[in-house]
Amino acid sequence: MADDLLIRLADEIRASKKTIALTGAGISVESGIPDFRSAGGLWSRYDPEEYAHIDGFHRDPVKIWNMLREIIAVIRAAEPNPGHCALAELEEMGYLSSVITQNVDGLHQAAGSRRVIEFHGSNRYLICLRCGYRGETEAFDTDATVPRCPQCDAVLKPDVVFFGEPIPGDAMREAFEEARQADLVLVIGTSAVVFPASSIPSTARDRGARVVEINLEETPLTGRISDYIIQAPAGEALPQVVALLRERLGGEE
Ligand code: APR
Repeated sequence: MADDLLIRLADEIRASKKTIALTGAGISVESGIPDFRSAGGLWSRYDPEEYAHIDGFHRDPVKIWNMLREIIAVIRAAEPNPGHCALAELEEMGYLSSVITQNVDGLHQAAGSRRVIEFHGSNRYLICLRCGYRGETEAFDTDATVPRCPQCDAVLKPDVVFFGEPIPGDAMREAFEEARQADLVLVIGTSAVVFPASSIPSTARDRGARVVEINLEETPLTGRISDYIIQAPAGEALPQVVALLRERLGGEE
Protein backbone atom coordinates (compact mmCIF):
# COMPACT_ATOMS: atom_id res chain seq x y z
CA MET A 1 0.00 0.00 0.00
CA ALA A 2 1.34 3.48 -0.87
CA ASP A 3 1.50 4.58 2.79
CA ASP A 4 2.83 8.04 2.01
CA LEU A 5 -0.24 8.79 -0.17
CA LEU A 6 -2.58 7.48 2.55
CA ILE A 7 -0.89 9.80 5.07
CA ARG A 8 -1.07 12.69 2.58
CA LEU A 9 -4.80 12.08 2.05
CA ALA A 10 -5.49 11.86 5.81
CA ASP A 11 -3.74 15.22 6.26
CA GLU A 12 -5.65 16.79 3.34
CA ILE A 13 -9.01 15.58 4.73
CA ARG A 14 -8.07 17.01 8.14
CA ALA A 15 -7.18 20.39 6.60
CA SER A 16 -10.17 20.46 4.24
CA LYS A 17 -13.13 22.77 4.91
CA LYS A 18 -15.48 20.67 2.77
CA THR A 19 -14.73 17.17 1.50
CA ILE A 20 -17.15 15.28 -0.74
CA ALA A 21 -16.97 11.78 -2.23
CA LEU A 22 -18.04 10.64 -5.70
CA THR A 23 -18.44 6.87 -5.74
CA GLY A 24 -19.01 4.27 -8.46
CA ALA A 25 -19.55 0.54 -8.75
CA GLY A 26 -15.97 -0.20 -7.64
CA ILE A 27 -16.75 0.62 -3.99
CA SER A 28 -19.40 -2.16 -3.98
CA VAL A 29 -17.28 -4.85 -5.68
CA GLU A 30 -15.96 -5.96 -2.25
CA SER A 31 -19.61 -6.40 -1.24
CA GLY A 32 -20.02 -8.97 -4.02
CA ILE A 33 -21.69 -6.70 -6.59
CA PRO A 34 -19.82 -6.85 -9.94
CA ASP A 35 -18.95 -3.51 -11.48
CA PHE A 36 -19.73 -2.71 -15.10
CA ARG A 37 -16.51 -2.23 -17.05
CA SER A 38 -13.83 -4.28 -15.28
CA ALA A 39 -13.05 -7.69 -16.76
CA GLY A 40 -16.06 -9.91 -16.03
CA GLY A 41 -18.18 -6.85 -15.24
CA LEU A 42 -21.86 -6.66 -16.06
CA TRP A 43 -21.31 -5.07 -19.49
CA SER A 44 -19.10 -8.00 -20.50
CA ARG A 45 -22.24 -10.17 -20.26
CA TYR A 46 -24.99 -7.75 -21.21
CA ASP A 47 -24.67 -5.13 -23.96
CA PRO A 48 -25.56 -1.85 -22.20
CA GLU A 49 -26.94 -0.41 -25.45
CA GLU A 50 -29.44 -3.26 -25.48
CA TYR A 51 -30.04 -3.80 -21.76
CA ALA A 52 -29.45 -0.45 -20.07
CA HIS A 53 -31.01 1.97 -22.55
CA ILE A 54 -34.53 3.24 -21.93
CA ASP A 55 -35.47 2.54 -25.59
CA GLY A 56 -34.62 -1.13 -25.00
CA PHE A 57 -36.85 -1.18 -21.93
CA HIS A 58 -39.77 0.29 -23.89
CA ARG A 59 -39.16 -2.23 -26.72
CA ASP A 60 -38.94 -5.39 -24.62
CA PRO A 61 -39.20 -4.87 -20.84
CA VAL A 62 -39.53 -8.61 -20.15
CA LYS A 63 -36.11 -9.24 -21.76
CA ILE A 64 -34.51 -6.42 -19.73
CA TRP A 65 -35.86 -8.04 -16.58
CA ASN A 66 -33.56 -11.04 -17.29
CA MET A 67 -30.68 -8.72 -16.36
CA LEU A 68 -32.51 -6.66 -13.75
CA ARG A 69 -33.52 -9.81 -11.84
CA GLU A 70 -29.86 -10.81 -11.54
CA ILE A 71 -28.75 -7.37 -10.31
CA ILE A 72 -31.58 -7.11 -7.75
CA ALA A 73 -30.79 -10.59 -6.37
CA VAL A 74 -27.08 -9.71 -5.98
CA ILE A 75 -27.90 -6.35 -4.35
CA ARG A 76 -30.36 -8.00 -1.97
CA ALA A 77 -27.61 -10.36 -0.76
CA ALA A 78 -24.98 -7.62 -0.42
CA GLU A 79 -23.79 -5.97 2.81
CA PRO A 80 -21.81 -2.73 3.17
CA ASN A 81 -18.05 -3.34 3.14
CA PRO A 82 -15.29 -1.51 5.09
CA GLY A 83 -15.09 1.08 2.30
CA HIS A 84 -18.75 2.12 2.75
CA CYS A 85 -18.32 2.04 6.53
CA ALA A 86 -15.20 4.23 6.41
CA LEU A 87 -17.11 6.94 4.48
CA ALA A 88 -19.96 6.78 7.03
CA GLU A 89 -17.38 7.13 9.84
CA LEU A 90 -15.77 10.10 8.10
CA GLU A 91 -19.20 11.81 7.93
CA GLU A 92 -19.80 10.98 11.60
CA MET A 93 -16.44 12.55 12.50
CA GLY A 94 -17.49 15.71 10.64
CA TYR A 95 -14.94 15.31 7.82
CA LEU A 96 -17.25 14.33 4.92
CA SER A 97 -20.04 16.59 3.70
CA SER A 98 -21.77 14.18 1.30
CA VAL A 99 -21.48 11.06 -0.80
CA ILE A 100 -22.56 11.52 -4.42
CA THR A 101 -23.03 7.97 -5.64
CA GLN A 102 -23.63 6.54 -9.10
CA ASN A 103 -24.58 3.26 -7.42
CA VAL A 104 -28.19 2.17 -6.94
CA ASP A 105 -27.50 -0.48 -4.26
CA GLY A 106 -28.28 1.61 -1.15
CA LEU A 107 -25.11 0.34 0.59
CA HIS A 108 -23.89 3.81 1.64
CA GLN A 109 -27.13 4.35 3.59
CA ALA A 110 -26.95 0.79 4.96
CA ALA A 111 -23.43 1.62 6.23
CA GLY A 112 -24.78 4.68 8.06
CA SER A 113 -24.05 7.53 5.65
CA ARG A 114 -26.78 10.16 6.08
CA ARG A 115 -26.08 12.65 3.27
CA VAL A 116 -26.18 10.47 0.15
CA ILE A 117 -27.05 11.91 -3.27
CA GLU A 118 -28.24 9.07 -5.53
CA PHE A 119 -27.17 10.45 -8.90
CA HIS A 120 -28.50 7.46 -10.88
CA GLY A 121 -31.56 6.74 -8.72
CA SER A 122 -32.08 3.68 -6.59
CA ASN A 123 -33.15 0.03 -6.85
CA ARG A 124 -35.21 0.55 -3.69
CA TYR A 125 -38.32 1.45 -5.71
CA LEU A 126 -40.09 0.24 -8.84
CA ILE A 127 -42.04 2.78 -10.90
CA CYS A 128 -44.69 2.58 -13.60
CA LEU A 129 -43.83 4.62 -16.70
CA ARG A 130 -47.48 4.54 -17.75
CA CYS A 131 -49.45 5.67 -14.67
CA GLY A 132 -46.78 6.94 -12.25
CA TYR A 133 -47.27 4.21 -9.63
CA ARG A 134 -44.24 3.80 -7.31
CA GLY A 135 -43.72 0.91 -4.89
CA GLU A 136 -40.97 -0.76 -2.81
CA THR A 137 -39.03 -3.33 -4.84
CA GLU A 138 -39.13 -5.64 -1.80
CA ALA A 139 -42.93 -5.85 -2.16
CA PHE A 140 -42.51 -7.72 -5.45
CA ASP A 141 -41.13 -11.22 -6.06
CA THR A 142 -38.74 -10.13 -8.82
CA ASP A 143 -37.01 -13.55 -8.80
CA ALA A 144 -40.12 -15.40 -10.00
CA THR A 145 -42.03 -12.90 -12.08
CA VAL A 146 -41.72 -9.70 -14.09
CA PRO A 147 -43.28 -7.13 -11.74
CA ARG A 148 -46.43 -5.51 -13.09
CA CYS A 149 -48.16 -2.33 -11.99
CA PRO A 150 -50.98 -3.10 -9.52
CA GLN A 151 -52.88 -0.11 -10.98
CA CYS A 152 -52.54 -0.51 -14.76
CA ASP A 153 -50.68 -3.83 -15.28
CA ALA A 154 -47.75 -2.26 -17.20
CA VAL A 155 -44.30 -3.81 -16.57
CA LEU A 156 -42.64 -1.87 -13.75
CA LYS A 157 -39.11 -0.38 -14.01
CA PRO A 158 -36.55 0.08 -11.22
CA ASP A 159 -36.32 3.77 -10.25
CA VAL A 160 -32.80 3.93 -11.70
CA VAL A 161 -31.50 6.11 -14.53
CA PHE A 162 -31.18 4.17 -17.79
CA PHE A 163 -29.03 5.51 -20.61
CA GLY A 164 -31.19 7.99 -22.53
CA GLU A 165 -32.96 9.15 -19.32
CA PRO A 166 -32.33 12.41 -17.45
CA ILE A 167 -30.58 12.58 -14.08
CA PRO A 168 -33.16 13.32 -11.31
CA GLY A 169 -33.37 17.13 -11.01
CA ASP A 170 -32.78 17.29 -7.24
CA ALA A 171 -29.76 14.98 -7.44
CA MET A 172 -28.24 16.99 -10.28
CA ARG A 173 -28.71 20.31 -8.46
CA GLU A 174 -27.47 19.06 -5.08
CA ALA A 175 -24.47 17.23 -6.53
CA PHE A 176 -23.16 20.19 -8.52
CA GLU A 177 -23.82 22.55 -5.61
CA GLU A 178 -21.66 20.30 -3.43
CA ALA A 179 -19.00 20.11 -6.15
CA ARG A 180 -18.86 23.89 -6.48
CA GLN A 181 -18.36 24.34 -2.72
CA ALA A 182 -15.94 21.45 -2.10
CA ASP A 183 -12.22 21.93 -1.58
CA LEU A 184 -11.48 18.19 -1.69
CA VAL A 185 -13.13 15.47 -3.81
CA LEU A 186 -12.56 11.77 -3.17
CA VAL A 187 -13.28 9.90 -6.43
CA ILE A 188 -13.74 6.29 -5.42
CA GLY A 189 -14.32 3.20 -7.58
CA THR A 190 -15.50 4.87 -10.75
CA SER A 191 -14.11 4.65 -14.29
CA ALA A 192 -15.28 8.26 -14.73
CA VAL A 193 -16.51 7.65 -18.28
CA VAL A 194 -20.25 8.33 -17.85
CA PHE A 195 -21.39 11.96 -18.17
CA PRO A 196 -22.57 14.05 -16.32
CA ALA A 197 -21.30 12.27 -13.17
CA SER A 198 -17.81 12.24 -14.68
CA SER A 199 -17.78 16.06 -14.79
CA ILE A 200 -18.30 16.45 -11.03
CA PRO A 201 -14.55 16.25 -10.19
CA SER A 202 -13.59 18.84 -12.83
CA THR A 203 -16.40 21.15 -11.66
CA ALA A 204 -14.79 21.15 -8.21
CA ARG A 205 -11.25 21.40 -9.55
CA ASP A 206 -12.18 24.44 -11.68
CA ARG A 207 -12.89 26.18 -8.37
CA GLY A 208 -9.59 25.21 -6.83
CA ALA A 209 -10.51 21.89 -5.22
CA ARG A 210 -8.06 19.01 -4.92
CA VAL A 211 -9.16 15.72 -6.47
CA VAL A 212 -7.91 12.34 -5.22
CA GLU A 213 -8.77 8.99 -6.81
CA ILE A 214 -9.00 5.66 -5.03
CA ASN A 215 -9.17 2.99 -7.72
CA LEU A 216 -7.53 -0.28 -8.78
CA GLU A 217 -6.58 1.29 -12.10
CA GLU A 218 -6.00 4.68 -13.71
CA THR A 219 -8.94 6.49 -15.32
CA PRO A 220 -9.33 9.42 -17.76
CA LEU A 221 -9.13 11.70 -14.70
CA THR A 222 -5.70 10.39 -13.68
CA GLY A 223 -2.92 12.89 -14.29
CA ARG A 224 -5.36 15.43 -15.76
CA ILE A 225 -8.04 16.20 -13.16
CA SER A 226 -6.91 14.22 -10.14
CA ASP A 227 -3.87 15.33 -8.12
CA TYR A 228 -2.95 11.71 -7.37
CA ILE A 229 -4.39 8.20 -7.31
CA ILE A 230 -4.21 5.70 -4.46
CA GLN A 231 -4.12 2.48 -6.46
CA ALA A 232 -5.70 0.04 -4.01
CA PRO A 233 -9.06 -1.57 -3.16
CA ALA A 234 -11.36 1.02 -1.58
CA GLY A 235 -12.23 -1.44 1.20
CA GLU A 236 -8.58 -1.44 2.28
CA ALA A 237 -7.46 2.14 1.56
CA LEU A 238 -10.42 4.03 3.08
CA PRO A 239 -10.31 2.40 6.54
CA GLN A 240 -6.55 3.10 6.69
CA VAL A 241 -7.08 6.77 5.79
CA VAL A 242 -9.74 7.09 8.53
CA ALA A 243 -7.44 5.38 11.05
CA LEU A 244 -4.58 7.75 10.15
CA LEU A 245 -6.94 10.73 10.51
CA ARG A 246 -8.07 9.50 13.93
CA GLU A 247 -4.42 9.19 14.99
CA ARG A 248 -3.78 12.80 14.04
CA LEU A 249 -6.91 14.05 15.72
CA GLY A 250 -6.05 12.05 18.81
CA GLY A 251 -2.85 14.08 18.99
CA GLU A 252 -4.96 17.29 19.12
CA GLU A 253 -6.72 16.41 22.39
N1 APR B 1 -11.72 -0.58 -5.16
C1 APR B 1 -11.58 0.55 -5.90
N2 APR B 1 -11.90 0.61 -7.22
C2 APR B 1 -12.37 -0.52 -7.79
C3 APR B 1 -12.55 -1.73 -7.08
C4 APR B 1 -12.19 -1.72 -5.70
N3 APR B 1 -12.31 -2.83 -4.94
N4 APR B 1 -13.04 -2.66 -7.94
C5 APR B 1 -13.18 -2.06 -9.13
N5 APR B 1 -12.78 -0.77 -9.05
C6 APR B 1 -12.79 0.26 -10.09
C7 APR B 1 -12.51 -0.24 -11.49
O1 APR B 1 -11.12 -0.22 -11.72
C8 APR B 1 -13.25 0.82 -12.34
O2 APR B 1 -12.40 1.93 -12.61
O3 APR B 1 -14.10 0.79 -10.13
C9 APR B 1 -14.38 1.29 -11.43
C10 APR B 1 -15.72 0.78 -11.86
O4 APR B 1 -16.02 1.38 -13.10
P1 APR B 1 -17.40 1.00 -13.82
O5 APR B 1 -17.57 -0.48 -13.81
O6 APR B 1 -17.41 1.75 -15.12
O7 APR B 1 -18.53 1.58 -12.86
P2 APR B 1 -18.99 3.10 -12.74
O8 APR B 1 -17.84 4.03 -12.95
O9 APR B 1 -19.73 3.22 -11.45
O10 APR B 1 -20.04 3.26 -13.95
C11 APR B 1 -20.71 4.49 -14.05
O11 APR B 1 -22.07 3.56 -15.81
O12 APR B 1 -23.20 1.73 -16.58
C12 APR B 1 -23.36 2.96 -15.99
O13 APR B 1 -25.12 3.67 -14.63
C13 APR B 1 -24.00 2.83 -14.64
O14 APR B 1 -23.56 4.09 -12.63
C14 APR B 1 -22.95 3.34 -13.67
C15 APR B 1 -22.10 4.24 -14.56
